[in-house]
Amino acid sequence: MRNEVSPLTDREAALLVHRAGGTPLYVYSRQAMREAVRRVRAASVPDADIYYSLKANPHVGVAGFLSTLVDGFDVCSLAEMETALNAGMPPERVLFTGPAKTHQEAVAALAAGVAVTIESPGQSRLFAKVATELGVAGRAVVRLNTPYPGKSADAPTSPNQFGLSTEVFAEVVRILAASPLSLIGLHMFWGSQYSDAGVIAAARRAALERAQALSTRFGLAFEFLAIGGGIAMPWCDADPPVDWEGLKAAGLTPGGPGIGGSATVVCEYGRAIAGPAGSLLTTVLDTKTIGDRRYVLVDAGMNHVLIASRLVAGAGRGEPSVRVVNPGSPDVTSRTTVTGPLCSQLDVLAEDVLLPAVAVGDTLVFSGMGAYGPTFSPGGFLSRDQVREVVF
Ligand SMILES: Cc1ncc(COP(=O)(O)O)c(C=O)c1O
Repeated sequence: MRNEVSPLTDREAALLVHRAGGTPLYVYSRQAMREAVRRVRAASVPDADIYYSLKANPHVGVAGFLSTLVDGFDVCSLAEMETALNAGMPPERVLFTGPAKTHQEAVAALAAGVAVTIESPGQSRLFAKVATELGVAGRAVVRLNTPYPGKSADAPTSPNQFGLSTEVFAEVVRILAASPLSLIGLHMFWGSQYSDAGVIAAARRAALERAQALSTRFGLAFEFLAIGGGIAMPWCDADPPVDWEGLKAAGLTPGGPGIGGSATVVCEYGRAIAGPAGSLLTTVLDTKTIGDRRYVLVDAGMNHVLIASRLVAGAGRGEPSVRVVNPGSPDVTSRTTVTGPLCSQLDVLAEDVLLPAVAVGDTLVFSGMGAYGPTFSPGGFLSRDQVREVVF
């Protein structure tokens, strides 16, 4: 697997299935998380704070372990916020993002003392009102609608609902200035799943230039500048590998002299941290041949790993890294389609991959699956059992 750090051994896989009492089972390696964080830190702007986005994997054991390795957490719900705080991350290092927070979310976030993104004039009014009612001085980070990488640095917007356009920035600054909230910085998240060091470095640079321009124009001294993350989790054979060396080199001069000035620069990652640290273990329930197709049916389905299913990956999108634990004849392989047990044609986890012979009861390992697993899957579909998860 191209993105793998500390690959899971067959022995570990077998023992983890015993430990959990069965499959389907996600396993998350502490050692791999440590290496993944080290790798993204080296591939970021020097001295940047590294924030982990719980949306990629909010498992309590993952968040708890990562709280000792990263500098902050990005959360998107009250449940994620509580997980972050229970993991031991101090509230001043938690950022609550999301384009449309509810009144209850505004109340709870400000009461907990976490920073919040403001993504519209309406949301700035909501947070100003709630801060006044609670009598708290909250910390606000204005999220800007940010051009996708590859667009010119002065392209003002992207066709999505996130953040606000520069035209309403002045209005939001006015609303916040008249409220108990302090505007501490900007949030400029430009995308996900990028591998090219030049593209990532240019997007970071564009974000820093934009922050500099707004700081000058509005006379604002930012102390927090989130300039995106975007590093990919290449888990399919068709995905290009991340240019880690190029990123390391690019990191030295991403924003020119001074980088963020006196502001803390924040790089925010989900999949690049959790993805390579996780594997999905699944048990073979049946094998059969239909026409010229060899099928292996397993107990993990798209209700546990939507990201690998045809619904997200699509046919021909590329295949995940899958192998058999302790195969009898590892060198004798044939083309195999691995499907889940659900009544849906979309429940295909790997198509036409080379696998050795398997028998009912054998274990398969899908690696690089630590991000957007259970949290991104329709766990309620067909009312089947939830997937197990273990941190080791
Ligand atoms: C604001 C924000 N931060 C962080 C992330 C995590 O992205 P990734 O998993 O690609 O690193 C996302 C992804 O949607 C996001 O929208």
